[in-house]
Parts: sequence; structure tokens; C-alpha cells
Amino acid sequence: MKILGIESSCDETAAAVVENGREVLSNVIATSLEEHKLYGGVVPEIASRRHAESISGVVEEALKQAGCTMNDIDAVAVTYAPGLIGSLLVGVSFAKGLSQATNTPLVPVHHLRGHIASNYISCDIEPPFLCLVVSGGHSHIVAVKSYTDFEVIGKTRDDAAGEALDKAGRTMGLEYPGGISIDKLSPSGDENAFSFPHPRIHDAPYDYSFSGLKTAVINIMHNASQKGEDINVADLSASFQKAVVDCLLSNFETAAENFGYNKLVIAGGVSANSKLRNDARKMCDRHGWTLTLPELKYCGDNAAMIASQGYYEFVSGTIANESLNAYATMPLDNIKY
Ligand code: KG4
Ligand code: ZN
Repeated sequence: MKILGIESSCDETAAAVVENGREVLSNVIATSLEEHKLYGGVVPEIASRRHAESISGVVEEALKQAGCTMNDIDAVAVTYAPGLIGSLLVGVSFAKGLSQATNTPLVPVHHLRGHIASNYISCDIEPPFLCLVVSGGHSHIVAVKSYTDFEVIGKTRDDAAGEALDKAGRTMGLEYPGGISIDKLSPSGDENAFSFPHPRIHDAPYDYSFSGLKTAVINIMHNASQKGEDINVADLSASFQKAVVDCLLSNFETAAENFGYNKLVIAGGVSANSKLRNDARKMCDRHGWTLTLPELKYCGDNAAMIASQGYYEFVSGTIANESLNAYATMPLDNIKY
């Protein structure tokens, strides 16, 4: 069964064809990232306009590279939540039009379920497993009970890990997205040069809070500039990255122990982070747990992961009609469409 996936929740316009949920036949991505760099973050209006300009060409190219026409496609899977509403609407409207014009079933896909599915196209892992989903907008610990049954065990109370990395990076004067810049710069710094608090939430051992850590970096930079002191940005970057990764992994480890999981998976843009990948590997080796990580090319937003999850949603009976809407927020364990 061949699924055409469409993703436009942030600044990537993406389309892909995936066979039987696992075999990627094509994966095309256009991004407006370079324009957003000028502003230090994604400008929603610019992202929406670029999606509208690129989407037809990107979908056409994905079909062409897969050697398909719409006659070969069994369903169109589209990210409909969560994300930037203007961006999502471009993908959803295009997918609805395509589905109607070609009489092909339309399958709504939750973006974070898609990130989890990036592991299905990278490895042969199957549920149940425990997944740490870390992106620019979300930091969740999720029990993946089956391909379509999820339970959120913990989540951030304020900023997502990626958002904290991006804002810390911006304060340190690094190029957007800060997460990538911090990952690149950190190996040349001393990760023990600055010490950061390890925020814990009383009675919620699996929840996260990253806004205090982010504010601590902002304060360090502001205090130094007021006193005219120089900060070693590589040291600060390495120390901040260590604080974020330690927080992410310590709650993830506690959740795996308490819920009895020995198959651990990481997903989302921040899963590309080298320290997170290395430290997670060490943690799992220590416990004798298996660790699955997406290939680097599937960590960030892409449509192959949407087509993969779309396949599992479709075979479980999830089909939308022309009234499908886009939603800026939506829990991943209790979806509506
Ligand atoms: O999943 P994603 O591509 O988009 C969202 O759904 O949000 O995640 C984007 C986030 C950004 O915050 C970006 O800084 C972060 O992923 N990111 C990284 C790395 N690559 C991307 N963070 C740390 N290290 C990286 N190598
Ligand atoms: Zn994402």
C-alpha cells in the first residue's frame, strides 16, 4: 500500500511516498529556514506564504521520484495538528483538494505521532515502547502502546527543550536554530564550566520545565554584558546543553524504570542532538535496554514520517472527509479531527 504524506506544520514544505508504512520511495523537502534566520526565529506569515508557493511542486516531485502517479496512491496522509495554523492550513487544504479531485482517501496525522513513526522508517522497531518526543514545540514522554494507541506520561509545563535551546542560542548570539548551533559549538567548550539547576516538579516526576534554565542563560549573558565581562560562549553552550540533556534523560530513565519498559525510542528535531544520542545510548547500555533513534535525515520535520504514521492510521480505519480542519494544538493521545 502506497501512502502520499504531506507535512507543512512549521517552515518545511514536505511530501513523500512510503510503501507499507516502512519503505521510503521518495522524500522531498523545501524549507524557508534561510529567510527566518534573518529574524532569529520562524515568522509564521512568511512560512505560510512559502508553503503556498512550494506545495504543488514538492508534491509533484515526490510522486515523480517515487515513480508514481496519483493512480498508484492508496491514501493521502496530511499533518493537521499541532503547529502554526497558517502553515498547517496550506497542507490540509492542498491534501483535501487532491483527495477530492483524485477520489483518494484522506488521512489526518498528528505531527508528534509522525515524529514517533520516523523510527519505523529508520529501524524495524514495533510498539509497545517508551518514547521521548523532543521538538521545537514539545517535550513529551509517551507510552506507545500500539501504532495508534498512545499515553502521555509526562510533558513540559512551559518551554519545550528545542525552544529553550533556540532561545538560549539566540541570547548567546548564535545562528538560528540555536539547537543546531549549540550542538555544533559544544564539543569545543567545557560542559562543567557553568552549573545549572535541575528543575524538578513536585509530585510530577515525568514532567519537565525548561523556562528556568533558559532564563538562567539569559541572566548570565545580561549580567556579563552589564559588567562588560566576556563570556566563553562555547563553555556556556556546552554547559547548557548538558543541563538540558541531563533533565531530558533523567525523567525518561525514571519513567522507563517505573513503567517497566526496556525498549526506548527518541523522536523529534532535538533527537538529532549528538550529546542526547550519546548519553541516551550510555544510559540504555547501563540498564541493558534497547535504544532506537531516527536516522539524522528523519529527525527534523519531513513527510516520510507522516506517510508512515498515515499508513498505520489508515489501516486502523482513520479517514477524514472534506470538513477536516487544522488545529494549532491537539493532545497526541486523544485526537479529534
Ligand atoms: O521537530 P522539529 O524539526 O520541528 C518541530 O516540530 O518543532 O524540531 C525543531 C527543533 C528546533 O528547536 C531545533 O533547534 C531542534 O529541533 N534541533 C536540535 C538539533 N537539530 C534540530 N536541537 C539540538 N541539537 C540538534 N542537533
Ligand atoms: Zn516537528
